[in-house]
Amino acid sequence: MTTINLKVNGKLIAYKGESRTHLGDFLRESLGLTGTHLGCEHGVCGACTVEINGSPARTCIQFVAACADYEIRTIEDFNDDEVMQQLREAFSQEHALQCGFCTPGMLITARDMILRLPGLTGDADEERIRTELAGNLCRCTGYQGIVKAIQSVLRLRAMQGKNDY
Ligand code: FES
Ligand code: FES
Repeated sequence: MTTINLKVNGKLIAYKGESRTHLGDFLRESLGLTGTHLGCEHGVCGACTVEINGSPARTCIQFVAACADYEIRTIEDFNDDEVMQQLREAFSQEHALQCGFCTPGMLITARDMILRLPGLTGDADEERIRTELAGNLCRCTGYQGIVKAIQSVLRLRAMQGKNDY
C-alpha cells in the first residue's frame, strides 16, 4: 500500500492504494474521469494521454504511487480552454474523428503541439505535425482530417495574432 497526494484537475487528491495501480485506472475507476481512454495499456497507442506537469504523457505506464505532488489535467479540465475549444470545432469541421476513442488523447497532444510550436505553418509543416502525432494512433480516420484540423487551428491563431508565423 502507498499513500500520496497529487492534484487532478486542480483538486488535491489523496491516493491510498496499491503501488502497482496505474494512473489511467485510477483516473477512470476511482475518480470517474472516463474521458481518459485506455486502449493498449502498453504505452503504444496514446489513447490514455493526459497532461502531467504541463506535458502530454501516457497514464497506462505511469504508476499513481510515483505521482506524489504531480499536477494532472485530464480532458475534462479543458472545457474552458481557448485552444481546446478551437481544436474541438476544427476536429468536427474536418471530420477528424469517427469512433472518438483516440480523440481525448489526440486533442491533448494537438493542444500541446499548437502551444509549443506556434511557428508551425499549416501547409508547410504537415510532416512535422504527423511526426508530432506519431505517439497517438487512430484506427478510423487515416489521420488526414486530424492533420487538417490542427493546420486550421494554427492558421486561425496566426490570423488572431496568437501564434507568430
Ligand atoms: S492505453 Fe496507454 S498508450 Fe495505449
Ligand atoms: S476516431 Fe476511432 S480511433 Fe481515432
